This record gives sequence, structure tokens and C-alpha cells, in this order.
Amino acid sequence: MTVGWPLRYSAKDGRRIIIRHAAYGDAPALHAGLLEVAREGIHIGIEPEGVGDLPAEIERLRRYLTTPRMARLVAELDGQVVGAVSLKPGPFGRKDRHWCSLEVWLAPASRGNSVGSALMTAALSWAESESFQKIVAAVFGRNEWAMALYREFGFRPEGRQKEMFVLPGIGCVDNVLMGLELGNSSQASL
Ligand SMILES: CC(C)(COP(=O)(O)OP(=O)(O)OC[C@H]1O[C@@H](n2cnc3c(N)ncnc32)[C@H](O)[C@@H]1OP(=O)(O)O)[C@@H](O)C(=O)NCCC(=O)NCCS
Repeated sequence: MTVGWPLRYSAKDGRRIIIRHAAYGDAPALHAGLLEVAREGIHIGIEPEGVGDLPAEIERLRRYLTTPRMARLVAELDGQVVGAVSLKPGPFGRKDRHWCSLEVWLAPASRGNSVGSALMTAALSWAESESFQKIVAAVFGRNEWAMALYREFGFRPEGRQKEMFVLPGIGCVDNVLMGLELGNSSQASL
């Protein structure tokens, strides 16, 4: 199965969503967006210091653009890059080449408008086109929004590491591991 990029969707508010593979020219928008999400402090693990500067973002992007079976897909909402999903295979090689991990984020102003669902739909299509059999995601135990999104796409909880993170204003949370067997997904539609 090949995917006909770019993929086009409509947001809940009627705006145009385009999902495509990232390009080097997206680095400033990806850097600014990831920094904004990291500064919120409660959704993703990476700290603002870990995001680093623009050259650090370009280097992260370079890995995705030059490594087989890795992908960073970006979401454009009315022509602006507002978020991304990153997919990469298991880290070891032959033993874990059948699954990939998934990480997704959107800038705060673009949430709740079905852009995340568009990114997930595209990510699942990409993973199937690369013959992955499974996708895994790790999510903070209090991130109900992300868990709802993953559940809608057929992910199920597979494990829970107790009290792995301390989040500002929230406290201790678990690390929830969710997985989706491909070929078996609910393929929630927009
Ligand atoms: C999680 C995230 C990617 C979801 O993307 P999104 O575009 O906001 O989500 P969508 O609008 O496509 O909605 C998907 C589902 O999320 C849930 N959802 C939507 N808005 C919500 C809200 N305000 N509160 C709680 N859940 C909500 C609903 O189940 C919704 O499905 P529905 O529209 O069929 O009811 C996005 O909110 C985000 O980037 N959050 C911060 C970063 C993050 O948490 N990343 C995941 C780390 S594991």
C-alpha cells in the first residue's frame, strides 16, 4: 500500500488540514511549536532545555529525513505548521523491527479541532505502508485528552509504570503504555 501524500482533511471549524512529510524548511515552526508544548510542562517529557535551539531542531529533523522507516509528519492548518507526529522503529534492529513508536503534539491554539485525528490517520497509513505490525505510544497517566485520541484509533493500554513523572500543578503520574496492532485498528474517521 502506498500513501498519496499530501493527505487533506477538514477541521471541525471548516479550515483546511494538510498532512505531509516534514521538510527542512519546517524547522523554525517545529522548533517554536515544540518549545511551546515543552513549556506547558504537563503533556510531553522533553524539557525546554532539551528542545534546545534551532540547529538542534534541524539535527533532529535530519535524522527523520535521512533514516529509513522513520517519519516526521507535519500538520498544516490553513497553511501554517501547527503540529507533528514522529514515528520510529524499535531501537535494536531485527528483534523489534515490526513495531514503531509514535509521538504527537499540537500547538495549544490548534487543539480540539480534529488536527490530531488527521495526524493519527496519516500516521497509521504511513505505518501500514512501511509494513509495521504494531504502534506503541507512552502517555502521562493524567493526559486524558491524548488517551482519548489513542483509544479512538484503537490503541489499548498495555502496561503502566507507577509514579514515573512529577508534573507541575498535578503531582506524580504514571507512564501509561498503549499499543495498537495494525490491520486491526478501528481507523476512526474524521
Ligand atoms: C493530544 C492531541 C494531539 C489531540 O489532538 P487534537 O487535535 O486536540 O484532538 P482532536 O480534536 O482530533 O480530538 C480527538 C479526541 O480527543 C478528545 N478531545 C478533543 N477535545 C478535547 C478536550 N478539550 N478535552 C479532552 N479531550 C478532548 C476527544 O475524544 C476527541 O475525539 P472526538 O472529536 O471524536 O470527540 C493534542 O490535544 C495535543 O497536542 N495535546 C498536547 C500534547 C500531547 O498531549 N501529546 C500527546 C503526548 S502522549
